[in-house]
Amino acid sequence: MREKQKRSVRRRKLRRGQMQADLSRYGRRILDSDEMRQAFRQTHHTFSTVGEHTMRVAMTSLAICYALKKLRIKTDIPAVVTGSLCHDLGILGRGGKFHSSKECSRQHPMDSVEVAHKLRGELSEKEEAIITRHMWPVGKAKPPNSLEAAIVSAADKIAAVEDFVEGYEKKQPGLRGVIREIKSQRKENVIWKTKKES
Ligand SMILES: [Fe+2]
Ligand SMILES: [Fe+2]
Repeated sequence: MREKQKRSVRRRKLRRGQMQADLSRYGRRILDSDEMRQAFRQTHHTFSTVGEHTMRVAMTSLAICYALKKLRIKTDIPAVVTGSLCHDLGILGRGGKFHSSKECSRQHPMDSVEVAHKLRGELSEKEEAIITRHMWPVGKAKPPNSLEAAIVSAADKIAAVEDFVEGYEKKQPGLRGVIREIKSQRKENVIWKTKKES
């Protein structure tokens, strides 16, 4: 393995370790809760579960925080962990409590705050707002009012796409291969060359 590749593998391992440490330090009670166990049993975004989606949102949010740290931009990691882990827990039992997907989309952030209170006790204003505003710009959700709320809201959209891609890939293997092929063509500038030559 080339030195550059080795360094990148080492960096990825370190980042994963840091994520696990932050999730464990600030989210242990949420991760060990019955609600989180239930989350891994409820389907979400067609192919995924609320639990898988939640972990994607948390890890993507943390990755953004670490990238910002390199730019000397500080973020509130405990608030990001709490907000991202709880943002969709209010969707649990969706079939029995919401009459329509519109109602679910509007109400579940508020229900998620209630679950977060139950699991974590007192929440800061920032933590509450991360949860209540995560759906923006969907429906009538208010826009994020802190850097941390913007991070979790963006991570939520990125994770939703991943939920579909990962799930679709499981159902119809090949999509990931197609994406890999497009990426490698871009790397070698094949697409660009083809356009220029034509
Ligand atoms: Fe949500
Ligand atoms: Fe979500």
